Amino acid sequence: MMGVMRFVRYAGIGVLVLVIAVGAFWLLHPTGGVVVQRIAERPAFLWRISGEKSCEGCHLKIDSGMDKQWRESVHFRVNVGCADCHGEDHEAVFAEKGKVSAGVCGKCHEKEVTAFAENGHADAEVAVLSDARFLAQSLAMQEEGCMGCHSVGERFADGSVGGCNGCHPGHEFSSAMAREPEACQVCHGGPDHPVMEAYKTSVHGVLYYNDRDPEKSPNCVTCHMPNGAHGHVANIGLGAVFTGAVLEDEYLPHLAMKRISKETFEANRKEMLQVCAPCHSARFSRESLERADAIKREADAIVAEGYAIIKSLYDDKALNPMPEDRPANPVVGHAFELGGQQLYENTSEIEQAFFRLFKFHHATTFKGAYHHSPDYTHWEGIVRMKMEMDKIRSEAKRLRISAK
Ligand code: HEC
Ligand code: HEC
Ligand code: HEC
Ligand code: HEC
Ligand code: HEC
Ligand code: HEC
Ligand code: HEC
Ligand code: HEC
Repeated sequence: MMGVMRFVRYAGIGVLVLVIAVGAFWLLHPTGGVVVQRIAERPAFLWRISGEKSCEGCHLKIDSGMDKQWRESVHFRVNVGCADCHGEDHEAVFAEKGKVSAGVCGKCHEKEVTAFAENGHADAEVAVLSDARFLAQSLAMQEEGCMGCHSVGERFADGSVGGCNGCHPGHEFSSAMAREPEACQVCHGGPDHPVMEAYKTSVHGVLYYNDRDPEKSPNCVTCHMPNGAHGHVANIGLGAVFTGAVLEDEYLPHLAMKRISKETFEANRKEMLQVCAPCHSARFSRESLERADAIKREADAIVAEGYAIIKSLYDDKALNPMPEDRPANPVVGHAFELGGQQLYENTSEIEQAFFRLFKFHHATTFKGAYHHSPDYTHWEGIVRMKMEMDKIRSEAKRLRISAK
């Protein structure tokens, strides 16, 4: 009896001392409160911060915002910590500037990393490296003004590809965040591909933002990453990448557009129509996409006309200045170039009008149409194309007169 009483007394004192110690740590230690909270949330955290050179223990003090992102992530719950991604060696971490390759994610997410390498995004970095507009920028502008978006296709020294944090930003690495249109917003907007803007001003966008239920109205991922497939950010037919594509037998001379076969087009279109099926009749969705195809062709024809006018001025040496009288284009030198590797600077007035016509307004018109935004299709799109064409026609007249 005495033994039991003594045990209870010592155990009581023990618990009291523990509570006081934890309380004091909580109150007096600068990060004590956070540490206690973490351990309460997930006891394995005690193990995480107990090492002599614990990454989490030290970074908790210096990067509290990052710590919060990580703590609220799935990785925290499944015990994936700093060293699992960054490695154990702090010297190496600094040498790498804190970078983590897609290959590292692939140790645990092989399916996503393998699939991603097949996806259009995987070409985003290689697509710019040989681009004249990229080569014409300062190093800082290349990094911030091009790679800020194109790093979604970053290629790492270990051979892996994928800027996974493009859609899974911060140390949250969240799936839920990646499913929202905002995840695509950093990159899929602006004058050369206002897809985000078009979506927001479409009936789909309006409905989606009302209650964010993708089973009632589609978001970007519904149509372009059905079932969360990382290898399949597509279903693209004539809208394939920023200038769009044309069918092989409809090729318009000189247009810098990808050419695709009728079979590829039809296979992609079939897949896209399957996406619409839960919410629309087959006729409704087919006709609405065919209307967008027709608008794409109408816009292509305007670009082709603009091209022909300017090319004939070049042939007659009536451009002012002529390509040989300007600084060289980093890819084509002093050759004539419209679309493709055309620069928006060190060119002539009429060629700049073509740049706006093609890179901005043409893209806006057809991207607006495929995303069902009446405003981006018409007022922000074809209206600006037609007005730019008038400028090209009158500038061409002026150039011919002054050439004589
Ligand atoms: C003794 C404290 C301490 C420990 C332990 C520690 N770090 Fe750091 N770490 C720092 C400091 C200080 C910096 C520089 C922070 C800054 O500039 O804000 C840093 C920077 C970093 C960076 C950013 C590097 C860059 O160039 O941007 C990463 C990533 C990193 N640490 C990961 C880790 C990992 C992984 C571990 C565990 C293996 C770890 N750290 C352990 C203190 C520590
Ligand atoms: C799931 C993998 C993963 C985990 C876990 C992880 N990181 Fe990172 N971390 C990354 C990635 C990816 C980047 C972005 C690197 C880049 O610039 O491409 C990064 C970047 C950083 C940077 C530099 C960028 C900046 O914003 O300053 C620091 C510092 C850093 N991590 C610290 C930590 C710390 C501390 C932990 C643990 C609390 C941690 N990381 C856990 C993947 C991870
Ligand atoms: C050491 C293993 C490991 C590494 C390395 C790792 N993860 Fe994870 N990750 C997990 C586990 C385990 C889960 C939870 C189970 C699952 O969804 O597969 C998870 C979940 C996720 C999720 C889903 C989160 C959610 O909200 O449902 C994403 C996104 C993710 N990881 C991305 C990454 C990225 C990007 C990297 C590389 C920067 C990475 N992970 C590195 C193990 C890891
Ligand atoms: C960090 C920037 C970035 C983010 C975030 C991003 N993308 Fe992209 N996306 C790009 C770039 C750059 C390209 C062009 C790639 C190329 O060179 O073909 C692209 C291409 C695409 C394509 C065309 C692919 C093809 O095969 O032709 C689709 C569709 C697409 N993105 C959808 C999305 C969706 C949906 C999201 C959001 C869930 C998203 N993207 C998030 C940068 C991004
Ligand atoms: C274009 C945007 C985008 C990029 C880039 C991206 N993801 Fe994702 N990821 C998503 C979306 C959207 C989901 C949610 C899918 C769903 O559940 O519908 C997701 C989900 C995940 C999941 C959770 C899968 C599951 O079954 O719960 C993991 C793991 C993941 N991504 C890893 C990666 C890795 C690794 C990379 C880099 C190779 C990467 N992601 C790049 C959009 C992206
Ligand atoms: C209702 C389905 C649907 C939704 C929602 C949707 N798209 Fe699209 N998207 C399309 C169709 C259709 C095309 C053109 C494909 C074709 O030619 O068959 C396309 C084309 C694209 C392209 C390729 C190039 C281009 O602009 O034509 C990108 C990139 C793209 N969409 C991104 C997005 C992003 C980002 C979102 C969300 C803000 C989004 N899409 C929402 C159906 C959709
Ligand atoms: C705001 C994000 C963003 C910035 C900044 C950006 N791009 Fe892009 N770029 C994209 C997206 C998104 C696409 C694909 C558009 C689509 O299909 O609708 C793309 C497409 C391209 C393509 C066509 C890729 C292909 O496979 O056909 C090239 C080339 C390109 N960009 C070059 C550049 C250069 C050079 C710079 C810097 C001078 C730059 N981009 C800046 C987002 C960006
Ligand atoms: C998750 C459900 C859902 C999916 C998937 C979906 N839509 Fe819709 N869509 C709607 C709803 C709801 C409306 C509004 C209908 C109304 O007001 O009667 C709508 C409206 C439209 C409109 C009419 C816009 C206007 O201006 O009135 C078009 C065109 C359209 N969708 C085309 C498509 C196409 C093409 C696809 C497939 C690429 C598609 N939708 C996929 C739910 C969906």
